[in-house]
Amino acid sequence: MTDTSRPLYDVMSTLRAVRRLREDPIPDEVLERILQAATWAPSGGNLQPWRLVVVRDAALRRELGVMYKPLWERYAAGHRKGLKGLEGEALEKQQRMLAAADHLGDHLGAAPVILVACFNPKLMAITDADMDRPSVVGGGSVYPAIQNLMLACVNEGVGCTLTTLLCYAETEVKALLEIPEDWYTCAYIPLGYPVGKGHGPISRRPVEKMCFGDRFGSALG
Ligand SMILES: Cc1cc2nc3c(=O)[nH]c(=O)nc-3n(C[C@H](O)[C@H](O)[C@H](O)COP(=O)(O)O)c2cc1C
Repeated sequence: MTDTSRPLYDVMSTLRAVRRLREDPIPDEVLERILQAATWAPSGGNLQPWRLVVVRDAALRRELGVMYKPLWERYAAGHRKGLKGLEGEALEKQQRMLAAADHLGDHLGAAPVILVACFNPKLMAITDADMDRPSVVGGGSVYPAIQNLMLACVNEGVGCTLTTLLCYAETEVKALLEIPEDWYTCAYIPLGYPVGKGHGPISRRPVEKMCFGDRFGSALG
């Protein structure tokens, strides 16, 4: 593999959702590097209980786009209601995000590649499965692979967004992509070269708000 890597922290700190994508194809060698990065991810017991369906066929992508649009519209209507009371820069930020996400809602099927992340719970060590709270450990054996591939996308200048709404249409997606019965979907990542600047500055809470020292809520110091 040729070393074309950008500094890791630059890549991590510019991984933002890129929802306006050009339709021109992603070269095979670029896509291969992105997929290779996914395979480097850790998983519980190294069982690697995920697979990616790399959807490039135009008719299949179109179908996924048709399914995504109403799901996004329903979600966005709820999200917009929640913006009441916001004003100024916070409101503008949300509106910019929604405009881009509306665009993706209308154009997901036109992205040259849609990665469909599948998982098989039978291959997973889901150590919180029987607890009396929502189980999240299983996702820890899948989403690191997705994060890896998205970081590789930043490195390659390829736009991407992790989306999940198509899980609601999983039955139809499974039929469309011939996903076996005991495999399910947990992320759909449209890829393409960005229309605009692509990955760039992100807005996240500072370390001191997110990380504590010794006891939850105590300042790290
Ligand atoms: C688990 C998860 C699910 C997401 N689902 C969607 C989605 O269905 N549609 C979408 O447009 N963005 C989706 N996103 C992208 C987030 O909205 C985005 O990462 C977040 O608003 C922060 O924006 P930024 O990454 O551009 O800074 C999802 C992100 C995550 C991590």
